[in-house]
Amino acid sequence: MTKIRAAVTGVYAYAPETILTNRQLESMVDTSDEWITSRTGIKERRILSGDGLGTSDMAVEAVIGLLKKTGTSPDDIELVICATVTPDMQFPATANIICDKAGIKKAFSFDLNAACSGFIYAIITASKFIESGGYKKVLVVGADKMSSIVDYTDRQTCIIFGDAAGAILMEPAQNGYGIIDSILKTDGSGRVHLHQKAGGSIKPASHQTVDAKEHFIYQEGQAVFKFAVIGMADVSAEIMERNNLKAEDVAWLVPHQANLRIIDATARRMGLDACKVMVNIQRYGNTTNGTIPMCLYEWENKLKPGDNIILSAFGGGFTWGAIYLKWAYNGEGKVKISNCK
Ligand code: UT7
Repeated sequence: MTKIRAAVTGVYAYAPETILTNRQLESMVDTSDEWITSRTGIKERRILSGDGLGTSDMAVEAVIGLLKKTGTSPDDIELVICATVTPDMQFPATANIICDKAGIKKAFSFDLNAACSGFIYAIITASKFIESGGYKKVLVVGADKMSSIVDYTDRQTCIIFGDAAGAILMEPAQNGYGIIDSILKTDGSGRVHLHQKAGGSIKPASHQTVDAKEHFIYQEGQAVFKFAVIGMADVSAEIMERNNLKAEDVAWLVPHQANLRIIDATARRMGLDACKVMVNIQRYGNTTNGTIPMCLYEWENKLKPGDNIILSAFGGGFTWGAIYLKWAYNGEGKVKISNCK
C-alpha cells in the first residue's frame, strides 16, 4: 500500500490594523529606531486593540478567510489544532473557541504549546492524523496576541513582539507532494532563559505576582540568541543533508521571524541566496505562532507545485525543528483580502 502524505492545500492570515512603529516605541522606552532595526530587522508590528478581543478573534478571521477561499464547508473539517502561547484563557482550549466562533461543529480540537516552534509542531501532528488514513481535512492555526504578555516598559522585549494569526488547510496529498520529512527537538533546560514566571500551577496569579510583573515575557535575549542561531541553522542544514538537497534544489526557506540576524545565519548555513528566504519581520516583528503561516500567505502567489520548501523555527522551551515539504498547488493569482499589507 502506498503511504498517504499530508499536504498544505490552502493558507490565509490576518494581522490587526493598529501599527506600533519603532518611532512610537522611542517615546515609550529608552530605545531608538536605529538600535531596533540594526539588532532585529524590525520596523513596526501590529497590535490587536479593542476591549474583549483575544487570540481567537484573529484566528477566526484567518480560519473563515481560509474556508471561503478554499470553498470548504465548516462541516467538512474534522480536526483543528491551534498553536499558541497566548490562549484566550487557561481553559478551555482556544481551538475549541475558534471552532465555536467559526461554525465548525463536527471537528475535535485542541491547543498545542511549543512556543515559537508551535506551528511546525502542529503541522507534523496534523500530518500524522492524515497519514493514518482516518482524517481528510485538518486545520492548523498559529495565532498569538503577544501584546497581552508584553511589558511595554521593558525595552528588551517590547520592541520584538507583535500580534497576528494564520491558518492552513491540510489534506491527503496528490502526486507525491506534501510533507516529506521533519526534525523536531526539545531541550527543557532552556526554560530558564525564556518563560512566563507566574500564572501557572507553580506560581498562581496573586497581587504579588501582578505587582512583580511576573505575567509578562521573561527573556534573557543574548542567551536565547546563541541557542537559536545554532539550533535553527543546524536543524535546517541537517534536513537538507539527509534528503540530499543542495542549495539550488531549495525553492524557499520559511523561517520563524524572531530576529533578522538569526534568519540570515540560517540561510547562510544552508547556502541560500537571500532572494529565496521569506522575510517580513520588518512589518510584523515576532508574532510567535503567526510568523510561518503569515509568510506562506504573503508569498503564496509565488509558490508552484513541487517547490521544495524548508520551514524552520526556534523558540521557548527550548523547542526547535525543521520541515521539508513539496508545495502542492499553484498559488499564482491568489487574491489577498485580509489586513496583511
Ligand atoms: O522567538 C523566540 C526566541 N527568541 C529569540 O530568538 C530572541 C533572541 N534574542 C534576540 O533576538 C536578541 O538577543 C535581542 C534582540 C533580544 C537583543 O539583542 P542583542 O544584540 O542580543 O542585545 P543585548 O541584549 O546584548 O544588549 C546590547 C546592549 C545592552 O547595553 P550595554 O549593556 O551593552 O550597555 C542593552 O542594555 O543594548 C542594550 N539594549 C537596548 N538598547 C536600545 C537592550 N535592548 C535595547 C533597546 N534599545 N530596545
